[in-house]
Amino acid sequence: MTGLPPLPPLPDEPEPGERGGERLQKVLARAGFGSRRVCEDLIAEGRVTVDGEVAVLGRRVDVAVDAVEVDGARIAVQEGLVHYLLNKPRGVVSTASDPAGRPTVVELVPGEPRVHPVGRLDSDTEGLLLLTNDGDLTHRLTHPSFGVEKEYLVEVSGVPSRGALRQLREGVELEDGLTAPARVSLTHPNLVRLTIHEGRNRQVRRMCEAVGHPVVRLVRTRIGPLSDRRLGPGEWRALTIGELRSLERAVAVRPPTPPSGATGPGPPDGPPGDDVPGEG
Ligand code: URA
Repeated sequence: MTGLPPLPPLPDEPEPGERGGERLQKVLARAGFGSRRVCEDLIAEGRVTVDGEVAVLGRRVDVAVDAVEVDGARIAVQEGLVHYLLNKPRGVVSTASDPAGRPTVVELVPGEPRVHPVGRLDSDTEGLLLLTNDGDLTHRLTHPSFGVEKEYLVEVSGVPSRGALRQLREGVELEDGLTAPARVSLTHPNLVRLTIHEGRNRQVRRMCEAVGHPVVRLVRTRIGPLSDRRLGPGEWRALTIGELRSLERAVAVRPPTPPSGATGPGPPDGPPGDDVPGEG
């Protein structure tokens, strides 16, 4: 006997009282709802339910079986993985660090666990960007074979003619080839809603420039099933479990199609394509 006091439990080991479940605020914090303190407030405000019952402070949950909801939306509580939807403001870069010292998207979300942006938006582009530490989902979302739709609201200079809109819709010849068919509509004289499923570098800017209407302002308003008009510039939130499921469905590996009727993309087997350097 040395007379030394007993060692405290290691941080990741459940404390004796925690066996059989983790503290709810810890699970919420991991899922991206803010610090444990903020999550305690969420619980105290009665905004959190576990298996349909309003949770009280001190509640423990088993993430493998318990259904946790915040404000009525089921949340993803899988250990270790976080998925944030950020409304990127203009002037913020989509890389982890910037040699020019500009603010980065990772500085706008919690620092732990470390996350990375899924694809990129130009520094001048605003709107929705996903950040996660889920490498498998990132790989699928950025792989061209899945062709996840992205919708943009584009303010252009001048008023595009029907012919210019048709060109955008049918395909524009760019230096790296013809663009795939897009969905295009004019919502105001100089405001175009454009939906594409490719991800080439600065694609929307180059498409609009090519038809004679350079981009004045570019905002991404949807990534596959994800949209949120209430998220202000610089704000982020965790994906709900429903959103995560629909995103996973959008990039689910399809069974191989018979040679005669090949339609959908197959499983990705290589590295992400040109979506990564500057997502379209
Ligand atoms: N297309 C662009 O030109 N820029 C972006 O940031 C995204 C899509």
